[in-house]
Amino acid sequence: MKVLIVGGGGREHAIAVKCSESKLVDKLFAAPGNAGIAKLAECVDISVMDADKLVAFAKDNNIDLTIIGPDDPLVAGVADAFIREGLRVFGPAKNAAIIEGSKAFSKDLMKKYNIPSAAYEVFDNANAALSYLETAKMPIVLKADGLALGKGVLICNNLEEAKAGVKTLMLDKQFGTAGDKIVIEEFMTGREVSVLCFCDGTHIKPMTSAQDHKRAKDGDKGLNTGGMGTFSPSPFYTEEVDKFCKEKIYQPTMDAMKAEGRDFTGILFCGLMLTEDGPKVLEYNARFGDPEAQVVLPRMKNDIIEVMEACIDGKLDEVDLQFEDNAAVCVILASDGYPEHYDKGFVINGLDTFDDKDGYYVFHAGTKLTDKGIVTNGGRVLGVTAKGDDLFKARANAYEATKWIDFENKYMRNDIGKAIDEQ
Ligand code: AMP
Ligand code: GLY
Repeated sequence: MKVLIVGGGGREHAIAVKCSESKLVDKLFAAPGNAGIAKLAECVDISVMDADKLVAFAKDNNIDLTIIGPDDPLVAGVADAFIREGLRVFGPAKNAAIIEGSKAFSKDLMKKYNIPSAAYEVFDNANAALSYLETAKMPIVLKADGLALGKGVLICNNLEEAKAGVKTLMLDKQFGTAGDKIVIEEFMTGREVSVLCFCDGTHIKPMTSAQDHKRAKDGDKGLNTGGMGTFSPSPFYTEEVDKFCKEKIYQPTMDAMKAEGRDFTGILFCGLMLTEDGPKVLEYNARFGDPEAQVVLPRMKNDIIEVMEACIDGKLDEVDLQFEDNAAVCVILASDGYPEHYDKGFVINGLDTFDDKDGYYVFHAGTKLTDKGIVTNGGRVLGVTAKGDDLFKARANAYEATKWIDFENKYMRNDIGKAIDEQ
């Protein structure tokens, strides 16, 4: 088979590694890919948003399967362009990707179908939002309705902050039209868990759990980022929690989307909060998490292409999804200053150290191949993942492996996986 991966981050590199291990794949392409993916795939310089060029490339090169990694093209309907041409694509159509593309849509869906989540109100008028806040309980959470690079969520501790938040989102339009509408949501407390699920429109199969670290600094301080590190599995995601989520969240979400005429095929990422009243949905994403994919996929035993094909064919019920009985930890190596200003273009040393090490991975995100070698080219530069027999060993291995890589401006959190000390 010829397979095309759309995207160029750490998530797509993790997908590319799994695809390269598949016995079904003869040739791998990526658009646009990155310097790490280029070792496994032929990278073509097409934007993830350019549906016409992607489809033309797939046709011209007889691509058997296209996998769309990021949220933006999915929400914009790039999968639909493939479906219209009768091409096989892994990733939800636009009318299903709305579950990530509009927080108001997903909140209304959960309410209509009794899927546990925080209480909320939707506003498309700033004055109405401001007067609602006057009597609301604090802290409170404001969310831009649309995509905002994972930064459209504001946790407000008091009325003053909340009012300023409404101004930021709706009046100053910091996230553009994503903030034309906002969700104001009850603040929840508890452990957060990410569960990524394969979906075929009817059936849904959760993968092993993971936990992300969204804040830039140790101790969950600093600004929200795309994610600074992950571990898998989450010791807090017990069998009891899993049973509850399967019955009350995963399958009901699939059924709800079907009932709405929005059959969901691809990855449904459920961001969960394990509250005192039980697990509740924080958010849905319509794709693999990044960096969640960088710990979950290395632990997956199945051939990823077989599972994706089963999703497209509506036969996921025939798949026995299996994960290794171990753990993995991913530490993101970022450019100092991320997620705000940072310099780039620094040479990265030590990447080769990973070549002959089983159970260790270096996934590229913001990197570029130049005549000086591979250089830093983004905020999140690399994801260093290591496996271990348990979370403690995986964490020690991952931090050891971060020492193999060296570049000017290297920044990482030193407390990825700290939560496992508290279990
Ligand atoms: P989201 O992009 O919706 O996952 O939100 C980003 C982060 O904000 C989440 O990972 C949580 O840490 C936090 N968050 C979102 N919604 C809530 C909520 N209702 N209560 C508490 N924290 C929240
Ligand atoms: N790591 C969170 C996300 O991919 O949205």
